[in-house]
Amino acid sequence: MKTFETAVALGADIRRWKEAGEIVAFVPTMGNLHGGHLALVDMARARADHVVVSIFVNPLQFGPEEDYAAYPRTIDDDRALLVDARVDALFLPTVAEIYPRGEDQATFVEVPGVSDILCGAFRPGHFRGVATVVAKLFNLVQPDLSVFGAKDYQQLVVIRRMAEDLCFPLEIVACPTGRESDGLAMSSRNRYLTEAERRLAPRLHATLEEAVARITGGERDWTAIQSAALARLRDLGFRPDYFEVRDAVSLAPPAEDAAELVVLAAAWLGRARLIDNLRVDA
Ligand code: PAJ
Repeated sequence: MKTFETAVALGADIRRWKEAGEIVAFVPTMGNLHGGHLALVDMARARADHVVVSIFVNPLQFGPEEDYAAYPRTIDDDRALLVDARVDALFLPTVAEIYPRGEDQATFVEVPGVSDILCGAFRPGHFRGVATVVAKLFNLVQPDLSVFGAKDYQQLVVIRRMAEDLCFPLEIVACPTGRESDGLAMSSRNRYLTEAERRLAPRLHATLEEAVARITGGERDWTAIQSAALARLRDLGFRPDYFEVRDAVSLAPPAEDAAELVVLAAAWLGRARLIDNLRVDA
């Protein structure tokens, strides 16, 4: 695996591959890699001749009170995992490489409608930061396809819409959520949990499953389902930001006859903000 800190050096390799007609897959990450990330890499590997992974903790997507400084940076472990996963190229840009005029002067990408709801309502500017860095990375890497996790469902919707609206000539591929054996969605932020919180954390997934069971059982009163789930999470000791049944494509509140739904939740447990979701075919 070759490591690149500048886009110019990475670009030379990628150009060579593309001139040979080889398929390039890209997996953007913020590092502190776990099984969820590695499933994305495996999916990329299965669909392409070359896999490029980026690790960049993107300051633009963190709010002023959020965990940018504390975000786990474990580059040596990450590198070893990526070598095992047979990744061809690791792109490790500096903040100055990505934001040469500084973060405050960066041109940005905003995806309206799907960025200011759900997590976006609680994390103002977050999806602008995500869309901006992913657009820049797409331009630097020029992949044929890019793999994103369904665990960050709203992010996936934002990226799909951005790629379509800005005519990026690539395919966005979704990878199912990787979970621990007790159902907890794998996340770099799970390391913020104490032992007691870690034992409780899978109840977020369990609460989503209860909502899915009500929907597949024929219930259509989304408000009742949401209120029951919020009460359950509070009783358990979570501090929920939201628990919502939404249209799986638009993320809008669903019509009663909507066929493709997604149930999404974000909840704090101690220092960790956990997010999870489940798709439902109603
Ligand atoms: P990060 O949280 O590191 O996640 C990188 C990719 O891994 C994202 O596509 C995310 O959805 C996916 N992922 C994380 N945990 C997962 C899990 N348990 N199962 C499946 N996929 C999982 O998401 C970001 O970084 C950033 O916002 C980024 C897209 C890199 C832009 O900065």
